[in-house]
Amino acid sequence: MAWDVRPTIDLEEFKRAVGAIGHYFGGWPADDEAAQRFSSNLPLERMHAAFEGDRIVGGAGAFPFELTVPGGTVRCGGVTVVGVLPTHRRRGVLSAMMRVQLADIRDRGEPVAALWASEEVIYRRFGYGMASLSCEMSLPSGYAGLRDGPEARATARLVPLDASKDVLAAIYDRTRLRTPGMFSRTDTWWETRNLPDPPDRRQGGGEKNAIVVELDGEPAGYALYRVHSKFENGAAAGHVDVIEALADGPLATRELWRVLLDMDWKATLNAFLLPIDHPLVHQLSYPRRMRLRVGDGLWVRLVDVGAALSARAYGGDGPVVFEVEDPFLPENSGRWRLAGGEAARTEDEADLALDIGELGSAYLSGFTFGELVRAGVVDELRDGGAARADEVFVTSAPKPWCPEIF
Ligand SMILES: CC(C)(COP(=O)(O)OP(=O)(O)OC[C@H]1O[C@@H](n2cnc3c(N)ncnc32)[C@H](O)[C@@H]1OP(=O)(O)O)[C@@H](O)C(=O)NCCC(=O)NCCS
Repeated sequence: MAWDVRPTIDLEEFKRAVGAIGHYFGGWPADDEAAQRFSSNLPLERMHAAFEGDRIVGGAGAFPFELTVPGGTVRCGGVTVVGVLPTHRRRGVLSAMMRVQLADIRDRGEPVAALWASEEVIYRRFGYGMASLSCEMSLPSGYAGLRDGPEARATARLVPLDASKDVLAAIYDRTRLRTPGMFSRTDTWWETRNLPDPPDRRQGGGEKNAIVVELDGEPAGYALYRVHSKFENGAAAGHVDVIEALADGPLATRELWRVLLDMDWKATLNAFLLPIDHPLVHQLSYPRRMRLRVGDGLWVRLVDVGAALSARAYGGDGPVVFEVEDPFLPENSGRWRLAGGEAARTEDEADLALDIGELGSAYLSGFTFGELVRAGVVDELRDGGAARADEVFVTSAPKPWCPEIF
């Protein structure tokens, strides 16, 4: 069946379209106010709805983001709130929405789309590739020490959440501009998403706290965290959850984590959405005790191959030639030559043959072509093709990191 998919035109439609995934959250958005709040970051025309007659049976949104890539930024559709009502699953509603949404993203001049997947199996068929890894840690207090190194040099202060936006946003922005995979946040985003602390979202913990560390009197790092207090047999058995911790460089990172690691009355320090190359791995005395768990992070889709490849910087000039297969957006299929940082169509012999999703996996340099060839998901057509491509894609930027699920 062909589904009728179009952008929402008023708050009522928006609420019902978002409500398709909201159904799985137990009924969200609860009211017009909640829908209005969500739409302050997601314009109505960026929310697509799938209709059966005048009933909305599915929805898919895309935030207008600026995404950091090696050496710059690119406009990006941040795909979100994708859902199909349980009454209409497995009848092609998602596929219809993805088709219309990707065309819309391309027409808006966003060469790239990105998302967090609720399940890894869903989005490859639409051309997304796993582009970053994301880690969690649970560090027992007894092992929460830093390696020998400089004595504490920073000062730290707690900042009321409602007065923290400017200082946090400035540190966030510096961090995101040097970190592929991070996206721009507006003031509204901070005010509606990162800083609110409604009691029904605390999951048994205390209030959300903001702490700022300063080096030489200047803010250089911050953490948002929540204490889950508990005592058993007279000893602390609770945990502290670090929601987000960002800092300017190695010393600020170390000083920020010193404060978090040293916190009394916790059995465990938990942190989520950490990058795979987090400096803490090298700064802790007992890195093994972090019990680092690794999963997929950001998924990236090149919507316009030529524009997307030309938007990032490269460590090498190339050339390297890709034979790209994109069944879902066939206009991307074909041979692309990347040379001097510019991608263009070519008739030259290809070095590598790959699906569009695999190009998405390599795009932020989270994975090398060598890794993808060794995994058997990219074909090397000419000897040394993967090595040549890796010489081009090499970057001094950190591994891609997206510290927030959107
Ligand atoms: C995931 C979801 C959006 C899929 O919607 P849908 O309309 O059923 O998907 P489609 O019918 O278009 O399926 C397209 C293909 O993807 C497959 N697919 C979709 N979701 C899948 C899943 N969770 N697991 C395995 N396969 C899946 C379908 O089997 C189908 O494959 P086929 O073309 O080979 O038959 C829907 O099940 C849903 O809303 N789930 C709960 C919310 C959720 O997880 N949203 C995603 C947020 S990131």
